Amino acid sequence: MRRVARALAARCASDAVNASRGACERSSGRAGEMITRIGTPARVLRAPSRALSSDARGGSEAKAPGSVFRAVSYAFVGAAGAMVGLRVSDSTLAETAEYAAYGAATPALRLLDPELAHDVGIAMLELGLGPRQRTADDASLETRAFGMTFTNPIGLAAGFDKDARAFEALLRMGFGFVEIGSVTPQPQPGNPKPRAFRLPEHGAVINRYGFNSKGHESAKGRLAAYRANASEAVGLLGVNLGKNKTTLEENAADDYVLGVDNIGEYGDYIVVNVSSPNTPGLRNLQGRKHLSGLLRKVLSARDRNPATAKKPVLVKIAPDLTDAEIKDVASVVKSEKVDGVIVSNTTIARPDAIKAHAHGGEAGGLSGKPLMEPSTRVLHEMYRLTGGKITLVGCGGVASGEDAYAKIRAGATLVQLYTAFAFGGPPLILKIKRELEECLKRDGFASVQDAVGAAHRK
Ligand SMILES: Cc1cc2nc3c(=O)[nH]c(=O)nc-3n(C[C@H](O)[C@H](O)[C@H](O)COP(=O)(O)O)c2cc1C
Repeated sequence: MRRVARALAARCASDAVNASRGACERSSGRAGEMITRIGTPARVLRAPSRALSSDARGGSEAKAPGSVFRAVSYAFVGAAGAMVGLRVSDSTLAETAEYAAYGAATPALRLLDPELAHDVGIAMLELGLGPRQRTADDASLETRAFGMTFTNPIGLAAGFDKDARAFEALLRMGFGFVEIGSVTPQPQPGNPKPRAFRLPEHGAVINRYGFNSKGHESAKGRLAAYRANASEAVGLLGVNLGKNKTTLEENAADDYVLGVDNIGEYGDYIVVNVSSPNTPGLRNLQGRKHLSGLLRKVLSARDRNPATAKKPVLVKIAPDLTDAEIKDVASVVKSEKVDGVIVSNTTIARPDAIKAHAHGGEAGGLSGKPLMEPSTRVLHEMYRLTGGKITLVGCGGVASGEDAYAKIRAGATLVQLYTAFAFGGPPLILKIKRELEECLKRDGFASVQDAVGAAHRK
């Protein structure tokens, strides 16, 4: 029954997002069918209670000791059964209702300016609002990376919760992991507004935030409080590090080392972000010489502190690297023994269709659907060059279970998204997970793990 209700939740939720007539028609039929199935046990369980009240009203019969015993037994069994029934159906129905409500509310946020909408969303999540997934993820979605178990491979990419304010609510929503940041050592305001633009027709966003960050100290307070209550941990957390704009390129490594020292211990993994297009010179750090020196310093900072010594370090790269640059990155991450690579950040490229859009000419990084193909191409290449020996996180344009599955087949053990979540809201998480489950089943994979890199085995 839980699975049915869960499917209903995801279906309703996805319908709220899609609002496409066909989807609605299909689902209303199924939803009705599911409600009937969910409702049936509750009705059955309520029957003894009704029997009790009619017995009690009946008077004479209730006075006989045998009847009283029978009535009390009925009442007990009925009440217990009803409570169990209600608890099960209530929790899943509450899940359904919550995701559907948030799914319906998400388009309303789009009436606001993108940055304001984002701030409102974060503030709501910080207040504890936001749906909570009650049902466990399907066993096929479980995946292992860096010696840790992820209940599902779908994570929230960096940039959504830059200052570590909402990650708990985001984890409870059903992400297998959430990456906070990029956090810079010192607070900095980022670029002037407006600096985020929606291209809804393309399922895309262009942003040039430029690492607006409240800095390490601010994030540290919240991360430490979260970790202090370890039993509350509901999922895995990544800490994504950036550099301050004013830090000279030759001193960039210092900012990442500070990141490891100041907040690295609070992440289940640490990310060195050298690929945001909105900090001048940042992407130069992906060059062979820079990258290897930078990573060496970061890794030795990690190793010398017992609180961070076991934390996996990942590097996040751009989708705009040339073949030669991709080769260089692969060779550096192998030689420096970096634990993983996130492929990729946003792109500075503008496909023709995007160029024609009113916002297509805005400076910044393009994310969302147009990024799916180029970022998956780089991911595929990175898997090939690293021989599948380094954990890869596929990011860029994921908007469906099929997209996530394509990343996994190309070599990703974990997948992240941002833009599609900003458009679709919480129901999208359940939808992607359900679709991914279906993709795995369809192609005969027992688990995510079995499908990693499958595209290379043909
Ligand atoms: C508004 C916005 C802000 C972002 N900020 C960051 C950031 O601070 N650090 C980072 O590593 N990536 C950042 N990203 C990039 C995302 O983490 C992700 O790599 C990229 O958007 C591709 O995924 P998507 O197509 O699913 O959005 C940002 C993306 C967007 C749209």
